[in-house]
Amino acid sequence: MKKSDIENELTYIDKVKTINDGKNLKYYILTMGCQLNENDSEKICGMAEKMGYTETDDIMDADLVIYNTCCVRENAEEKLFGKLGEVKKQKEAKGTIIAIGGCMMQEKHIVDKIKKSYKYDVIFGTHTLYKFPKDLYDAIIDNRKITDILDIDGEIIEGLPIKRDDNIRASVTIMNGCNNFCTYCIVPYVRGRERSRSPEDILQEISNLAKEGYKEITLLGQNVNSYMRVEREKGEVTSEINSFAKLLRAVNEIDGIEKIRFISPHPKDFTDDVIEAIRDCKNVSKFIHLPLQSGSTNVLKVMNRVYTKEQYLNLVDKMKKMIPNVKFSTDIIVGFPGETEEDFEDTLDVVRKVKFEQIFMFIYSRRKGTPADEMENQIPEDIKHKRFDRLKELYERLVEENNKEYIGKNFELLVEGYSKTNNKFLTGRTDTNKVVIFEAAEDAIGKVVNVKIISEHKWYLKGEILELN
Ligand code: SAH
Ligand code: SF4
Ligand code: F3S
Repeated sequence: MKKSDIENELTYIDKVKTINDGKNLKYYILTMGCQLNENDSEKICGMAEKMGYTETDDIMDADLVIYNTCCVRENAEEKLFGKLGEVKKQKEAKGTIIAIGGCMMQEKHIVDKIKKSYKYDVIFGTHTLYKFPKDLYDAIIDNRKITDILDIDGEIIEGLPIKRDDNIRASVTIMNGCNNFCTYCIVPYVRGRERSRSPEDILQEISNLAKEGYKEITLLGQNVNSYMRVEREKGEVTSEINSFAKLLRAVNEIDGIEKIRFISPHPKDFTDDVIEAIRDCKNVSKFIHLPLQSGSTNVLKVMNRVYTKEQYLNLVDKMKKMIPNVKFSTDIIVGFPGETEEDFEDTLDVVRKVKFEQIFMFIYSRRKGTPADEMENQIPEDIKHKRFDRLKELYERLVEENNKEYIGKNFELLVEGYSKTNNKFLTGRTDTNKVVIFEAAEDAIGKVVNVKIISEHKWYLKGEILELN
């Protein structure tokens, strides 16, 4: 799309602002789903504020209610319908505008259901985020319902306004979409094909963030380590920064950014150049999220993950050898169609071997339109839940075991504020996302401190402050 077309769409920001002028209008937003959706919401908020709305946490106070939806599992879907049911009365009473966006809106059967049974004003999808101001304008001016969904992949639109959630940590989307088609997953259908942002745009955004005082950057994408792969294969890359490894190295050079994280990489794209970049770049976190999904080679094959149990374990071993103190988190699905007791034992085996610091565990959820939904050997709910509980038990034991290795060691952490559960203590997190509480004066908040861990309490560690850095 031409730059002028995008600029034209964004002129609707001012048009809505003119209509809203002097009315002191408020918006409420609820974001479901992953960090990509959260990052999209930051852009939706940026646009809403420029259109003259201010944010409120109280939905009853809102003139504009925005839902940014997720459909990766069934419970995310149910949540939206519950919310739409609740907000109906408010709309009837005071004409609240309801806008629904995000991944779920890319599913036709869902949009049909909303149109048939729920109240709304604007529906927009993942490829039409930038059209939100125009859609809202049309809905207000014409007093009609707008559905604005594109089935073809939207380009990555640069230059949208953004209202960031935090002033120290920021997320930066580097690529959109996914080409992997894991057989359980809806994401490729609702986010489209892989496409990468240009390195120039990414580096410019991060440099600006550094100037604004941001210290930590998370690079986001459904498959970050295949950054620029599609463009490389098509011969479309003009920049020297033509891979994820090179992008990491370039971000590492930006003054002021002290910590660089990324999610999610795919094990199949974890090439040596990426491992070397993590090892060499001082600011790149050594806490790596490496989605496993299943430990069974048989299940992995049917999932279309294109690695085996052994290849995953070899990758972890290689990384442990090449990157001192590397630690891992992961995603695991239990109860994928056809998963046998033996397959599940393989998953437990990998968990024991890798000793993950953090595991995000999911019960397999059937997604309409995905190959796994059509498989006949679905696992009964009670078996899925029992396996989930066994994995959870193992994980909890592992957490305590891993925690013991922290005792007596010193960690640098950013003091985030008072502990929510005990306001005698301040709190921060290690690089591996462990919550640490410690006593210190209030003025330590916002600073980096050196803390020695003295005891472990399963979901948090207790420390003693050594010094302010
Ligand atoms: N692209 C990322 C994240 C995808 S969604 C990645 O590949 O890691 C986040 C997680 O949700 C996935 O890693 C997977 O563990 C889980 N997930 C995806 N589809 C699911 C489904 N149908 N049922 C249960 N969990 C699912
Ligand atoms: Fe889904 Fe697989 Fe793509 Fe991740 S890599 S978004 S799990 S299809
Ligand atoms: Fe959900 Fe869409 Fe993210 S389906 S997990 S919000 S990419």
